[in-house]
Amino acid sequence: MKGGAAAARAAELRRLIERANHAYYVLDTPEISDAEYDRLFRELQELEAKHPELRTPDSPTHRVGAEPASAFKKHRHLVPMLSLANAFTEAELAEWEERNARLSPEVTTAGYTLEVKIDGAAVSLTYQDGVFVTGATRGNGVEGEDVTANLRTVLDVPLRLHGKGWPKLMEVRGEVYLSKSRFAELNKERERSGEPTFANPRNSAAGALRQLDPKITRSRGLKIFCFHIEAPGKKLPVATQHDLLQQLAEWGFPVEPHHTLAADLAAANREIAKLEPLLDKLDYGADGVVVKVNPLELHAELGTVGDREPRWAIARKFAPEVRVTTLKEIRINVGRTGALNPYAVLEPVEIGGVTVSTATLHNFALIKAKDIREGDLVEVTRAGEVIPQVLGPVIKKGVRRGRPYQPPERCPVCKSKVEHPQGEVMVYCPNVSCPGRVFESIVHFASRGAMDIRGLGPERVKALLDAKLIKDVADLYEITPLQLLALEGFAEKSAGQLVDAIQASKDRPLSTLLFALGIRHVGVQGARLLARHFGTMKALAHASADRINQIRGIGEAIAEAVAGFFAEPKNRKLIERLEKLGLNMKEPIAAEGEGPLAGQVYVITGTLPSLSRVRAAELIEAAGGHVTDGVSKKTTAVVVGADAGSKLEKAKALGVPVIDEAELLRRARAKP
Ligand code: IVH
Repeated sequence: MKGGAAAARAAELRRLIERANHAYYVLDTPEISDAEYDRLFRELQELEAKHPELRTPDSPTHRVGAEPASAFKKHRHLVPMLSLANAFTEAELAEWEERNARLSPEVTTAGYTLEVKIDGAAVSLTYQDGVFVTGATRGNGVEGEDVTANLRTVLDVPLRLHGKGWPKLMEVRGEVYLSKSRFAELNKERERSGEPTFANPRNSAAGALRQLDPKITRSRGLKIFCFHIEAPGKKLPVATQHDLLQQLAEWGFPVEPHHTLAADLAAANREIAKLEPLLDKLDYGADGVVVKVNPLELHAELGTVGDREPRWAIARKFAPEVRVTTLKEIRINVGRTGALNPYAVLEPVEIGGVTVSTATLHNFALIKAKDIREGDLVEVTRAGEVIPQVLGPVIKKGVRRGRPYQPPERCPVCKSKVEHPQGEVMVYCPNVSCPGRVFESIVHFASRGAMDIRGLGPERVKALLDAKLIKDVADLYEITPLQLLALEGFAEKSAGQLVDAIQASKDRPLSTLLFALGIRHVGVQGARLLARHFGTMKALAHASADRINQIRGIGEAIAEAVAGFFAEPKNRKLIERLEKLGLNMKEPIAAEGEGPLAGQVYVITGTLPSLSRVRAAELIEAAGGHVTDGVSKKTTAVVVGADAGSKLEKAKALGVPVIDEAELLRRARAKP
C-alpha cells in the first residue's frame, strides 16, 4: 500500500475501532462481531508496524477499551488493567513462545498454566487487610468506574477473606459474567414484560455492573471468576500461576475449575485441543483459552508490552465459524414503533449446524459504512447466542457488483415519507396506520406483558387482518364469536374463548393500556410512572411535554413521544373509541394504608400458572401491597410458581412464608 492510501486506511481503521469501542464499552451495544473487531485491530497494528510514521499517540492500539462513562466516581487502578494478545493458530502461539524465549530462555521448559477465558466484564477488586473495600470496572485500563455497591450484590464476591497470608493491600482481577441459563431466563422475563432483550450474556453483564441502582444489579444474578493478583511491592505466598489459582480459591474467590498445567508448549496444545470443544458447553461464555507462563518470577522478567498486554500470557482464540454466501436481497421489516429494520435474505448456508437464510443488517448507517450491496458475496456468522449477522461483503477484483444500496425514502409498506430523528440511528415510518406497523402493534397490544389476551398470537392477528375483521386494536373489542367461526382454525369453543379473553382485557389498569399502545420509548416502567402520576388517560392526554418531563424517572425522549402521540388526531380518536368500548382508563391506586394487602411486601418468583409476573404485581399493588425483588425478613410472603430458583431457597432459609398463585388471589380477593 502506498503512503497516502495507507494513511487514509489507518485513519479509517482508527475511526471504525473507536466507534466499535464506544459501542461496546460505553453503550454496551456492540455493533460489530468480536472477530471483525480483531480483524480491524490487527490490520491497524500491521499498518502501524509497516509505516511507523503513521503511529499517533491516540491510536487505539495504544490503549485498552474506551474512556469511562461519567455516571460513576472514577477509580484509579493501583496497576493498570491489561488486555491480552490473541493467537488464532498453533503457529502464532509458537511465535509468541519464541519471542519470549529471546528475553527469557527458560520459558520453553518452565511450564504453562491454561485457563478458560471467561467472556464477561473485567473487574478489579481491592482488598485491604482481607476486607473488600473497592470494586471497579476496567474503564480505559488506567482508570475505571467505582462500582463497589454493585459488586457487593454479586453474591460470590467474598467480602471478607478466609485463611491467611494475603498482602495488606491487593487488587484481585476477575471477570464478572452472567450464566447462559440466567441470561436466557432474564431475556424471557424481559420479553414477557415487553422490555428489549439483551444481545448476549457479556453485554448484559457489563450493563448490569453499570446500573445506577444496585438493586437492579442484584436482580440480574451476576457471578464472578478470579484469576490474577496485583500487590505492588508485596511478596505473594505462592510462586506459580497454578498455585496462585489454588490460593485464590482458599481465600474464598471463585476460580474457574477447568484450569490445568502443561509441561511445555506441545503439551499445552494437546490440552487446548481437549478444552476447545468444552467451551461451548459451559454455562458461561468462554471465548478462548488463556496460556500463562507458570512461574510468577518470569512474569516480572518478561514484563508488559506498553500498557496494553503482558508478555507472559496470551489468549488462544478459535475463530467463530464464518461462511460466505450470496446476499440475494435486502428487505425491511417495519416494527411497531415504525422503526425500519433492514435484514438480508441469503442463499441458505449452514453455520454451526444450523441453516441460516436471513440475517440482521441492524440499520442503514451500518449498511452504508460497510458498503453492503444486493448480489454481493457476504461473510455471515452466528456466534454464541447472537442472531446471525452479516459481517460485510467479500469483494473480488474484476467481479462487477450491484449498485450501492440506497435506503428507502418511503416506507416499503405504506409509502409514507420516512423520518430520521436527529441523533438516532434508526429510521422510522411516521404513519400510525401503516399496515406493517399495525400488524406488529396489534401483536404487541395482545402480548403477555401488555393486554395479555390469551390465544391472540401473530398468526391469528394476521388472519383477522387478512379477513378484514380488524384494522386497529379497537376493532378487536367488536369481534363476535360468529365472525370468528367463519375463519379457518376456529371452532365454537375456541371462538368463544378468544372473544372472552379479549373482553376480559378491558379491565386492565391504565399503565398496562399505555404500555400496550406501543408509544415510542414507553416501556413497562415508564407507563407505570405516567399512570401513577396522572391517574387517568384524560389527564395524561392534556399534559404538555414539559409537564410530563418533570416527572421523576421520565426523560425528555419519553415526554416528547407521549405528547406527540396525543397530539395526533388519529390517536385521540382511537383512545375515544377504546373508552366508548368500555376499556378502563384509570390507574387503580389503593390509597396509602388501604386495600386487603396494605402494608404487605411480596416477592414473585418462577412461572405462575395463570398470571404473568407483571399482572401479579399489578394485582398486589392494586390491593395496596408492594412488590420487591429481593427476599428479606421484611417480606410478607414469596409467591412461587414453576421453576422457582434461589429466591425460594432464600425464603426457606429466612423462614419467610411461601404461597402459590391461588393463595395470592384469595388474599387479594381478586379474580385473574
Ligand atoms: S489474564 C494481567 N485470565 O480477558 C492479567 N484474563 O481479553 C491479564 N479474561 O482483561 C488477564 N478470563 O478481563 C486473564 N483466565 C483469564 C481470563 C482473562 C477472562 C479477560 C480479562 C482480560 C481480557 C483480555
